[in-house]
Amino acid sequence: MLKSACQRILYGFLRCHRCKSTMVNVDQCAEQICQLVDQAGKQLLEASKELRKFETKAHSRDLVTTTDGAIEKQLMQGLQLKFPQHVYIGEEGTAGAATGRKLSDAPTWIIDPIDGTINFVHGFPYSCISVGFWLNQQPELAICYNPLLQQRFTARRNAGAYLNGQRIRVSGQTQLQRALIMHELQAANFPRELIDRQICNAEQMMLKAHALRTTGSAAMNLCLVALGAADGYFEFFPHAWDVAAGVLLVREAGGVIIDPAGGDFDIMSRRLLATATPQLAHQMVQALANWQIYEQRDDV
Ligand code: IPD
Repeated sequence: MLKSACQRILYGFLRCHRCKSTMVNVDQCAEQICQLVDQAGKQLLEASKELRKFETKAHSRDLVTTTDGAIEKQLMQGLQLKFPQHVYIGEEGTAGAATGRKLSDAPTWIIDPIDGTINFVHGFPYSCISVGFWLNQQPELAICYNPLLQQRFTARRNAGAYLNGQRIRVSGQTQLQRALIMHELQAANFPRELIDRQICNAEQMMLKAHALRTTGSAAMNLCLVALGAADGYFEFFPHAWDVAAGVLLVREAGGVIIDPAGGDFDIMSRRLLATATPQLAHQMVQALANWQIYEQRDDV
């Protein structure tokens, strides 16, 4: 089942892209990442059976485990072996150390070894390995694999989005008052005002939508929108690696990805709005208009 899920992004049609002077064989990229994510999933599953020790990074709620580092390293090494010229951006610093975090036209792998690290530490089964492959600043391939729930979401540009090999589509919901909305609240070490802005946004959605939900994983939230299980998702703080795969999944499932103020989506901006339809996007932009948040960009 999982194999066929991956084959969906492998052999749909042979596609090579010219990127500056390099020809990129996207089939080869898909084949390699499928194998590597498969192995990484086994690693995540194995580690999830043990007590997860963690360390903290920027603040007391920014957790990292040895599994995050090990998976990123394994993915990076496996990809670099085949694609030494490509650019790598990753959460744990194994990737991106040499190139920084600027997105260019170059073939770029954007890797989150475990999206939902806090969930992973607590045994809450919403964590996934998320890898997006971008070319000419556009998402080309996406995999979000949650081995805990045996869910492998895959997408390839212009070739659809899939869950375990089955085609998926967004819900088609057009009305906020009938929508189920995903979001994430961040405390970090923020000033009170930033916390209040998030609460005001959440309140807007609580009052206007059917329901407001959170999984604790930006990538999983996007997968749920692509699946049609949620109708919308907004967040003001996700990093590029949290959403690099999920945005392609939503687009290929027929959904909309924009900035929460209504402009074009910018992967480095740490701002995201995903919806099933443009009508719903419009209503969410209106609901979020008074409490916009602009965090420091990922490429600064
Ligand atoms: C985090 C999760 C969380 C989101 C944060 C991310 P991590 O990623 O996706 O849901 O709200 O913005 O940083 O740290 O678990 O990989």
